[in-house]
Parts: sequence; C-alpha cells; structure tokens
Amino acid sequence: MGMLHGRRVLLGVTGSVAAYKACDFVRRLQEAGCEVRVVMTAAACEFVAPLSFQALSGFPVRSAVFDAQAEAGMDHISLARWAEVIVIAPASANFIARLAHGLADDLLSTLCLARLVQTPLCVAPAMNHGMWLNAATQENVSTLRRRGVFVLGPGQGVQACGEVGEGRLLEIPVLLGALEQCVGPWPLRGRRVVLTAGPTREALDPVRYVGNRSSGRMGYALAQAAACRGAEVVLVSGPCALAVPYGVRHVAVESAAQMREAVLAEVGGCDVFIGAAAVADYRAAAVAAQKLKKGADDWCVSLVRNPDILAEVAALGVGRPFVVGFAAETGRLVELARDKLVRKGLDMIAANDVSEGQGFDVADNALSVLWGDGGVDLPRQSKEALAHALLDVIVARYLAKGC
Ligand code: C5P
Repeated sequence: MGMLHGRRVLLGVTGSVAAYKACDFVRRLQEAGCEVRVVMTAAACEFVAPLSFQALSGFPVRSAVFDAQAEAGMDHISLARWAEVIVIAPASANFIARLAHGLADDLLSTLCLARLVQTPLCVAPAMNHGMWLNAATQENVSTLRRRGVFVLGPGQGVQACGEVGEGRLLEIPVLLGALEQCVGPWPLRGRRVVLTAGPTREALDPVRYVGNRSSGRMGYALAQAAACRGAEVVLVSGPCALAVPYGVRHVAVESAAQMREAVLAEVGGCDVFIGAAAVADYRAAAVAAQKLKKGADDWCVSLVRNPDILAEVAALGVGRPFVVGFAAETGRLVELARDKLVRKGLDMIAANDVSEGQGFDVADNALSVLWGDGGVDLPRQSKEALAHALLDVIVARYLAKGC
C-alpha cells in the first residue's frame, strides 16, 4: 500500500494553462486510494470549468470564502481541518507570492493559512520560465521552503507560450510520486540508500549485447519507497524505460563492470544497499571493435564471469551498509535463498519464484524475505505495493540491528 492510500487530499488549482492537467491528477490521486476535494481560485475557473473537477472528484468544488451554497460545516476552517495533505497543482507565480506573504484573500489562500501545522502543504509550480527565474518568485519560493512547504518541481521543457525552460508542471505520474514522498513518516531521514536496478548489457560488438528481461520495475519501486521514508536515494540502473522517481539521483550504466564501478563510487557512507539489478553473470571474453559478420552456421561466444557486486559490497567490512540482495529461483526457493544469504554475507535476502510467471517483466510479484534468524512472506501484489512492504521490513531489521 502506498503512502497516499486512505489520505484525505485537498487539491488546490490556481490560474495556469496547466490547470487542465489537474483533472488527470484527481483521477491518479483516487487510484492511489485518496479521497479528493478540489478548491479553485477565480483565475483557475477561467481555464477549466469547476464542473469538470466536481464530476471527477464527486464533490462540489469550492472557490469563494463566503459561499451560501456550500454544505453546512464545510467552511474554510473545517475544510482545512479535513485535509490531511494540501497540494496546490498547478501553483501560479501569483499564488506562490500570496502564500509567501500570508494573504488570505480567497478560499484557497485562507485554507493554506488555516491548515494545521502537521498538514503537509505541497506546491507544484507551473509558469513561464522567466516568471519562475524572476528574483521575486525565487525569493517567495525560498520563503516557502524555509517554512517547511514542499516545492515539487517545476519541470523543464517546452512551455505553453512556445518558449523552452524551467517552469512546467511536473508530469502527473512524477508529481504523484513526489507527493507520496511528502506525507511521512520518514524513518530513513538523514540516511543514504544506494540501489541497483534493471538489467545489464554485456557487449559482444558495437551493436550486439547479451542481456536479460528485467524491466527494472521492482528496483525503481524500491527507490521510490526508500525516498518516501525520507532517505537520500541513489539509483544505479541498467537500461530501463521507466521514469526515475522524483528526487532520486540516477546513475545510468550499461554493463556489470560499469555498475560495479558506479556502486563502489557511491557506496561509501551509505546506510542501506539494495541489489535489485539482474546483473549478468557473464560477459564476453573479448568485445569485437567492429560489427561481427555472419558466416558459419554456428557461432560460439566465449564468456567469462562478472564480479559479484552484491557480495563485494557485503564484504566491505567495518562501516559497510546494511546489505539486501535478491534471489530469483525456479525451485527450492527458501533453501537456495538462505544459502545465498550466508554465502554472500548479506543481512537480508528477498527471494522470488520466477517459474510461475512471476518476477521478470511482469507487474506483480511475491517475495520470501529471509534474514539470519527469521523471515516473512510478502504475498503477491503490485511491485509498487510490494516495494513498500519490503522497505518496512528492511527499516525494521536495519533499526533493530542498531545501525
Ligand atoms: O547469485 P545471484 O545472481 O542469484 O544473486 C542475485 C543477487 O546478487 C541480486 O541481488 C543481484 O543484484 C546480485 N548480483 C550482483 N552482481 C552479480 C550478480 C548478482 O550484485 N554479478
């Protein structure tokens, strides 16, 4: 279950061309298990009709502070108390300025001012890049950050005006992931987590490689789950067609040798290392400099063993991180995984059976998690939900070890 599941989210929409994207955001929030109420500024109503948000959220959309039509009890204070999270998306330069100066001249700004201190306030800016970079906006944003407001984005790219720069509303899936990181609790705050994810590609020549079917989805979900718990996250990843979770530092690699080099460069001072990558066990003994030409009916490739990155991290000695590995097996799951746990000197291993259409390149998975004197089975569920469940186990064991 993600961090947003069961949360009451108040979505504030302000006057920006990106307001139409907030319609999709309502849907994505609901899919994440949130109850959503929408409050719009007067300018937002010029871009998108409140009826769209009313239909999507299933609740009346509020805009004015004094609304004779509003249901009893849903005045600005009770709405502020109702919200467990407030997210302003898109947040215009004008709204950010009003927020920074504590204005309460419409319902949305009043709600933000009246919210409980423990209610996270998140703003996702969307504006022209010149407006974003203007010193006034930057100072207002700094003020908000200093007060503990989460500023999510903005993203970079082509803008509605045709100019290119920083100021786009984050893409909705990225924004959802970023919001998920704002709700807490953050048991890994101040800790550094390094993960490997995805497949590796072992070159045969400039165009061919030996690879595997790993999608990287489990590793990327674990990176997001670690970031949700407040960790600083570094994701060393082989080639994957996935969006890097918000705030996560991505180190792109291709081969196992590159992955090893990147991991060894990152692992110093790291608290938890999770090896979720499907690292190739072998690489070509020699990589041809030119494209190999077909000729004979059969072709033998000589392969040599790759270094075991996980075992190497586990063997680092004093000050080494809490090390978690994965084991993909097609039989004798627990027996082989426990053997791997001991042989590689790991703190924990997450084993999955890849013989039943599980594990590689599919959306769901189940895991048997083992450690020195115990273990737990995590039932089949989406890799995103499973990543949260596994991170809870990792955090509990990591803290129990007195790390
Ligand atoms: O030995 P096996 O490949 O089954 O171990 C799987 C675990 O070891 C995974 O956590 C994987 O990321 C890691 N591994 C590694 N380097 C390798 C091979 C596997 O880090 N060369």
